[in-house]
Amino acid sequence: MHGIRQGARHTLAAFTAVVAAVLLGASPAGAQPSWVGEPASIQARLQSDLFWLTLVLAAVVFILVESLIVYSALRFRRRAPLPSIEPPQVHGNTRLEVMWAIVPAFILIGLFAVSARTMTALQEAPPNAMRIGVTARQFQFDFTYLDRGGVRSSGELRLPVNQPVIFEITSVDVIHSFWIPELQGKLDAIPGRVNKLVVTPDVVRSYRGVCAELCGAGHANMLFRVEVVNEADFNQWLEQTRSGAAAAAAAAPSAEGGQQVFTAKGCGACHVAPGVPGAVGQVGPSLAGVAERAGTRKPGTSAEDYLRESLRQPNAFVVPGFSAAMPTLELTDSEVQSLIAFLQTLR
Ligand code: CUA
Repeated sequence: MHGIRQGARHTLAAFTAVVAAVLLGASPAGAQPSWVGEPASIQARLQSDLFWLTLVLAAVVFILVESLIVYSALRFRRRAPLPSIEPPQVHGNTRLEVMWAIVPAFILIGLFAVSARTMTALQEAPPNAMRIGVTARQFQFDFTYLDRGGVRSSGELRLPVNQPVIFEITSVDVIHSFWIPELQGKLDAIPGRVNKLVVTPDVVRSYRGVCAELCGAGHANMLFRVEVVNEADFNQWLEQTRSGAAAAAAAAPSAEGGQQVFTAKGCGACHVAPGVPGAVGQVGPSLAGVAERAGTRKPGTSAEDYLRESLRQPNAFVVPGFSAAMPTLELTDSEVQSLIAFLQTLR
């Protein structure tokens, strides 16, 4: 009898130790385990704090309840030989029942209050917040610095540290989802709608942004780089991008200009282009040596005319074995000329 009770106590102690070890290993105070992205914005920290508060409360309740179940099962299990007299039978305990209704109710009300406060804080945008338009399309994100002269960037997002930003997120085709895990929760990009997300990054670092909504064959390559930099670097980059765009618009069509357009429009998410970093997409046909094939794809069409048609009306002719997945791009005549020149250099 004594031995059994001792055994039960040992089991209970071991169980508690294992649960405690798992929890403590997962959440040392202040430090994040490696499987959770290190929060790097005011908003991500608010979300992280709420997550850990909820986890710790849930863990305390879980350990308490599970311990009592295991203890009771071992302590009061049927033993042989059966006792000759029936043990006292209990029917209800008002004080205990009131307590286990009221205590969880208070915990939930408290969690609700903290959650509501966090949700409000997440949407607060200071008046000096910088607006950045985010336009998602298959398969790239385009960024427009709305109150910095409309400077545009594709596939790369630069943010000044400690500057509140409002992302105004929309889509031109299907539903995508804008997500930079260390900076904020994900938010859908929906055609015909603008969703707003406030982020105040406070750590200078590089991050990876992704599309978090299955949006078609190129979804996996719908990635972008995020660089949180100090204000001087940000302004310098803004100026460079602005003058670079102006120079590109004024320049005569050229193969080099075509490569820049190719990169800026995210063509590499769907096409292989030898020599272009990251151009490894498998959604559309490879563009290696396209110049040799272009003149023979459609009888009576020259290579240049074929490439022009492919850029202007992408799905007028679809290469056998591929689907009509290419979006119609916004391209100036000069950009089309440059792209044709560039594509013909690919071997
Ligand atoms: Cu866009 Cu997935």
